[in-house]
Amino acid sequence: MNRPPESLAQRLESARRRRDHLHQARRRRPLEPLPGGRVRAGERILHNFSSNDYLGLAASATPGRAGSGASALVTGYQPVHAELERELADFLGREAVLLCGSGYLANLAVATALAGRGDTVVQDRLCHASLIDGARLCGAALKRYAHVDTAAAARRLADARGLRLLVTDGVFSMDGDIAPLAELADVAREQSATLVVDDAHGIGVLGAGGAGACEELGLDAERAPVLVGTLGKAFGVAGAFIAGSRALVEHLENHARSVIYSTALPPAAASSALAALAQIREGTLRRRLASRITFFREGAARRGIELLPSRTPIQPLVTGTESSALSLSAQLEAAGYLVTAIRPPTVPAGTSRLRITLSAEHDAAAVEGLLDALVAAGASGTAGASVTG
Ligand SMILES: Cc1ncc(COP(=O)(O)O)c(C=O)c1O
Repeated sequence: MNRPPESLAQRLESARRRRDHLHQARRRRPLEPLPGGRVRAGERILHNFSSNDYLGLAASATPGRAGSGASALVTGYQPVHAELERELADFLGREAVLLCGSGYLANLAVATALAGRGDTVVQDRLCHASLIDGARLCGAALKRYAHVDTAAAARRLADARGLRLLVTDGVFSMDGDIAPLAELADVAREQSATLVVDDAHGIGVLGAGGAGACEELGLDAERAPVLVGTLGKAFGVAGAFIAGSRALVEHLENHARSVIYSTALPPAAASSALAALAQIREGTLRRRLASRITFFREGAARRGIELLPSRTPIQPLVTGTESSALSLSAQLEAAGYLVTAIRPPTVPAGTSRLRITLSAEHDAAAVEGLLDALVAAGASGTAGASVTG
């Protein structure tokens, strides 16, 4: 008789029971660093004999406080980290958030803490390298499906073993398109799988409130229970986070090796991210960016420049061969525009491209200038090329 596959909730609960039983449960607690090798722990001031701030340089860099001095589970977790986690959880509509060193490490954390041998990770073929590496590292079977093909995702899940993670980028990093998240959430529910969304390029940009592709496509915490974001892109800082239920975050705190065994995010970065979050929420920069994207795409369409369908800041122009992408990039640079050529293995063979990314910082003249330089470099295809999205 076929037993239903283990759910994420069951896996989290059995891991929690086991660590409680073994007295191995660990929790981070906010510790405010003070001069003289001390910390404030709630009401008390303690001498800190657990940090790695051997020369006292992390603490002495006040007011910036350069470093956290230790991993979060030891003494590197400070009130500013806790505040950022609370603010991010509120922003994203999730119960809890776990900060980590980078998006790359966050994706390793999710895969290795949730899945292992006997489990299955199903991913879009164009998922970011860190999602692929996480799946490889955790030892689960990795199955990939054709880009944004939800029916293929369902087929891969149908013959999967163990715990099933259905993993996708929210916004694809080299293509700029948005994953069909609502359909993927339906497939995940039908197949008793857990949807994991890495929205590194969507959070801070998409959605009415800026909370990303999940907000834009109406996925709440139940439909997108594991949400990864980075502080290195729209937030303009560095670091990353994983958002979800309290049980998920507690599990990651205890089992996510790429977070546990690494120095906590610098408090200065957490502070900058808090300031960035306030600006994201306020909305002016997001609206400015959206108008730049529209302006760019309309200008491209008028000039017959064919872009991939994208309404995000990532606006790729596929040239095909490596040499054509390099040559176009060089011509643009000669004209004063820096646009990187992206080639295999970052993108599939035959799809080398210019990855044009727009920012709220660009003014209309710069955008027009780039479009004209593209035309001068021969990047316009047939006049009236279809530009959609
Ligand atoms: C989809 C996606 N996930 C994760 C990352 C990694 O994020 P970070 O730069 O914070 O390591 C990136 C960025 O390169 C990305 O594009």
